[in-house]
Amino acid sequence: MHEIDSFIPEQKEHLEQFRIKYLGKKGIIQDLFADFKTVVPEIRKEMGVKLNDLKQKVQQKIDEHKSKFDESEDTNADTDLTLPAEFNELGSRHPLSIVRNEIISIFSRIGYIVNEGPEIEDDWHNFTALNFPPEHPARDMQDTFFIEKNKEQGDIALRTHTSSVQVRVMERSKPPIRAIFPGRVFRNEAISARAHCIFHQVEGLYIDKNVSFADLKQTLLYFAKEMFGESTQIRLRPSYFPFTEPSAEMDISCSICGGKGCNICKYTGWVEILGCGMVDPNVLTNCGIDATEYTGFAFGMGIERITMLRYGIKDLRLYFENDLRFLKQFEGAY
Ligand code: DAH
Repeated sequence: MHEIDSFIPEQKEHLEQFRIKYLGKKGIIQDLFADFKTVVPEIRKEMGVKLNDLKQKVQQKIDEHKSKFDESEDTNADTDLTLPAEFNELGSRHPLSIVRNEIISIFSRIGYIVNEGPEIEDDWHNFTALNFPPEHPARDMQDTFFIEKNKEQGDIALRTHTSSVQVRVMERSKPPIRAIFPGRVFRNEAISARAHCIFHQVEGLYIDKNVSFADLKQTLLYFAKEMFGESTQIRLRPSYFPFTEPSAEMDISCSICGGKGCNICKYTGWVEILGCGMVDPNVLTNCGIDATEYTGFAFGMGIERITMLRYGIKDLRLYFENDLRFLKQFEGAY
C-alpha cells in the first residue's frame, strides 16, 4: 500500500520537471521562440505554424499523462487492499442432477455400475434388438425424431429411451451384468406441464444365472425405500413392453400425502414411477447371451418424474427454463 501511494507522486514530479524543461519560461521551446526572430522571412510563416504546433502537442501530452496520474491516484485512494476479495457467485446443482446422482448412489450400494450410450442411436439398438416389431407405433415419425430414414442400413434417430444402452452393454459384456444407464432421451411430443420432447431416464439391468422376478421386486422395493423413505410401499401392475416378459409397471405409495389421497396421486394413494420386467429371451439372444443359461430383469424410470415426487414440483417445464428463482431453491442439496 505504501509503495503504491508513493509511486504516483514520483511520476508526477518527473512530469513537472519535463514540463519545466520544455515549456517553462526558460525552457527549450521558449528558446526556439526566441530564435524565431532570426528566421528568414520566406519560411517564417511556415516555421511559426510548426513551432506553435509543437508547443501544443507537448502541452497535450503532458495534460494526458497528468489526468491519467490523477485518475489512478483517485482509485488507489478508494481501494483498501486489506478488504477480503469479492466472490464470484457460484451456481448450484440442477435438481435433475441431484436426483440422478442419488439414484446412482442408491444402486451403487448394491453393486450396480454406471454405463452410458450414445444419444444418436440406430434402429437396431433402439428398437429391433429390443424386440419391437417392424410396425410398432414407437417407430412412427409422430413419436420419434428421425435423423435419417434408411431402408437398407436401418434408420438413425435420437434415442427414445435408455433401454438402447442395455443392448450395447449386453453385446459387449458377459454375464453377470449389473448396471444402470442414466441419460437423456428424446420424443416427438408437444411440450406441456406433464410432457417434454427432451427428458431423462435411468435404465437398470441385471443378468445372471437364476435371476427371478422376486429379485426384481426386492431390488425395486429397496430402491423405493431409499429414495422416498422407509415407510414407502410398492405395487406392481401387469403391463406390456416388447423387451420384457412378463412386464409390469410399479407404483409407490404417494410420497406427497403418504397414501391418504391428494391431487398428485389423483386421490388413489399410489403413483406410477417405472416400468420393469424379466428380459425377454429374444432380447438376450439378439445380444449374444445364451437365453437357456441366463435370465435377468430390467427396469426404466424417468428422472423428471422421480424429481417431481421428491420435491413436489408440479410443472415439468420448470426444469428447462433456467429460472434462478426455481434453481436457487436447490442450493445446498448435494
Ligand atoms: N423403455 C421404457 C420407456 O421408455 C421403460 C422401461 C420399461 C424400461 C420396462 C425397462 C422395462 O427396462 O423393463 O418407457
